[in-house]
Amino acid sequence: MKYAHIVGWGSYLPDKVLTNNEIAETIETTHEWIYSRTGIVERRIAGKQETTATMAFEAAARALTVADIRPSQIDLIIVATSTPEYIFPSTACRVQDYLGANRAGAFDLSAACTGFVYGLSTAAQAIATGSIRTAVVVGTETMSRVTDWEDRATCILFGDGAGAVVLKGSSIPGGVMASTLRSDGSGGNLLSLPAVYHNPVPSLGPEYFHNGQGPGTIKMSGRQVFRFATQAISDSVSEVLKKTDMTVDDIDLIIPHQANGRIIESAAKKLKVPADRFYINLSKTGNTSAASIPLALCDAIGEGLLKPDDNVVFVGFGGGLTWGASVVKWDVTPPAVSLVDRQWKRARYMAARSRSRFRRFNRKFGARLLGSPTPDASLKDAEKIGDED
Ligand code: ACO
Repeated sequence: MKYAHIVGWGSYLPDKVLTNNEIAETIETTHEWIYSRTGIVERRIAGKQETTATMAFEAAARALTVADIRPSQIDLIIVATSTPEYIFPSTACRVQDYLGANRAGAFDLSAACTGFVYGLSTAAQAIATGSIRTAVVVGTETMSRVTDWEDRATCILFGDGAGAVVLKGSSIPGGVMASTLRSDGSGGNLLSLPAVYHNPVPSLGPEYFHNGQGPGTIKMSGRQVFRFATQAISDSVSEVLKKTDMTVDDIDLIIPHQANGRIIESAAKKLKVPADRFYINLSKTGNTSAASIPLALCDAIGEGLLKPDDNVVFVGFGGGLTWGASVVKWDVTPPAVSLVDRQWKRARYMAARSRSRFRRFNRKFGARLLGSPTPDASLKDAEKIGDED
């Protein structure tokens, strides 16, 4: 069962659309400037009830429906995100709970916009070693909540959403054939999202992270990131192709992290690949960080761009600095999923949520009945986790 095949995929975008023109009403910019520099026209913004975890659940549930796999068959859930609601519980654990995936391990992965490629590679290796059989890999972000909406150099770029794939072990050659993962922490200051509790490390000093400007929003040196990104795409694609003895001519589609249309065009030139072999959907989504590659994959499948035996490359780059790529032999035709099947699966997730609430209730009142002390105020706060959904 050493080959990790992608057997399901799903995405989720919030309903609220934020156009360039709407942004131009709040800061000094124009649609023309944003579009000509990035290729972005609009992005989606999560609603009040939507979180990184709820969007991840929606994408994962859709991917499981396509794969026709029950939550109880999942061995591992990896969620790549830079915008979790909690450091712990991880977003992956919340997804595990929402799905009712009662046999799955779950963890979050932090590799910024490269997170999905890191997650895919990690899950594929776990399948290749035989340690697991089925994994769900999710990229999910609420970038709108870590964006400084007064910083015109960054707020025009980002959007919210989630995408997921299901990986399943098989003895049939194909699936994730090779990956390359790289990093360079010396460039961490070029693109950073300080944690809200961030205390500058004394040896680096507060100036390391953009002069210690307020915590909790993205800081970026746009031009330097642009140069790094162009190089990172061409290096990663070349490196991963070498591992599989392929050339760019063997590749049918390259799905890059959707940061900026001009970055992708420059990378295509560097690799001497026709630009239309790169899939681009960022005009509608903006940069959704770890979610962008699986979101783009779902759109590419929806447009009928992938057929069995195609070779596809996923390539990511981002904060860290991190970058990486995976080559995947595509071997699935999208199955037809009936409405009844979808509804039945939805009902199963509602049942999973009821079971979860029951377990929380049991834990809370069971402990009291058995004579445990009444929870203090901080524990009461902790008990609210999960109650918001
Ligand atoms: N509207 C109008 N003018 C603007 C805006 C804006 N939104 N933003 C900046 N400008 C101005 C600047 O103030 C500057 O004016 P000046 O020349 O008078 O000083 C001028 O435009 C040029 O600014 P630059 O920052 O040099 O613009 P650049 O051409 O580099 O484009 C951009 C900026 C789009 C951000 C570009 O650098 C870029 O795309 N970089 C890569 C960003 C990226 O992809 N980041 C995500 C990486 S993935 C991840 O991990 C999150």
